[in-house]
Amino acid sequence: MDHAYIHQILTEIQGEVAQYQHLGKVADYIPALKKIPAEKYAMVVTELNGHSIGVGDLTDEFSIQSTSKVFTLTLALKHYKSKLWRRVGKEPSGNPFNSLVQLEYEHGIPRNPFINAGALVVTDALISTFDNPLEEILTFLRTISNNPNINIDEEILASELAHGYRNAALVNFMKSAKNIDNDVDTILYTYFAQCSIKMNIQDLSRCFLYLANHGINPFNNEEIITSSQAKRINALMLTCGMYDEAGEFAFRVGLPGKSGVSGTIATIVPKEYAIAVWSPGLNKYGNSYVGVESLERFTNKVGKSIF
Ligand code: DON
Repeated sequence: MDHAYIHQILTEIQGEVAQYQHLGKVADYIPALKKIPAEKYAMVVTELNGHSIGVGDLTDEFSIQSTSKVFTLTLALKHYKSKLWRRVGKEPSGNPFNSLVQLEYEHGIPRNPFINAGALVVTDALISTFDNPLEEILTFLRTISNNPNINIDEEILASELAHGYRNAALVNFMKSAKNIDNDVDTILYTYFAQCSIKMNIQDLSRCFLYLANHGINPFNNEEIITSSQAKRINALMLTCGMYDEAGEFAFRVGLPGKSGVSGTIATIVPKEYAIAVWSPGLNKYGNSYVGVESLERFTNKVGKSIF
């Protein structure tokens, strides 16, 4: 890849999207998130060899929020294989990430692992599997980011714990529908803690490289998941990773991606690189406004997409 060319494209995009910054709204339902300045911006392309080309606030850390759902799904799929799909579906929800309505109609089986209800089931599965699931998640992220210092943002965690009423409703409802095995508070704590893991945009892009590389960690050549499992996670990112904006995102960007309410989106171009972007202002679907704009411009300018 021509590094100077990619840097020039990223610089162009950074200039072009600045005009949209005021259109996004920083999440405020988790009070600690609303402290993040709306004008923060970073975008990075990381090749399979770990080399990053980026612009903007590259060393600022943010909580990874719902992008963590990709990593917990990876750990659960590795352990439970196809049995996991008895408890969580694989269809787009067409509903907001924290919706309660569909879950009742569908008897406590979440549509997919990326809406909050689905991610809570996945976290429950990890609690049943590991003595210390949080440590397992952190160890996994330290390995795939190639950064041993990845940790939790305690202020975000405390804020999520104090304001997580909808997630508490979701997990309690699923418990009543017998789709939750463990203690509700333990699940909520673990889920909020995984969302509160902090890193910078370069770390996050490295964390997605195994999904661009058939399930193999490019830093040590170890198989994290099979290529077939990696294919399935990428398919779920494409169809469900952006919630009720997944169709629009596939249409505009054309890559599998996963967003988080801190304003980050991570995507992959299979066999080539991971692209991550961070801009805290969100659109009405809870995805980064400027993040989507930036990625659409990137795939158009470099002519890369999965289609
Ligand atoms: O569950 C929550 O509300 C947050 N901790 C994570 C949600 C999230 O990132 C949704 N994504 N756009």
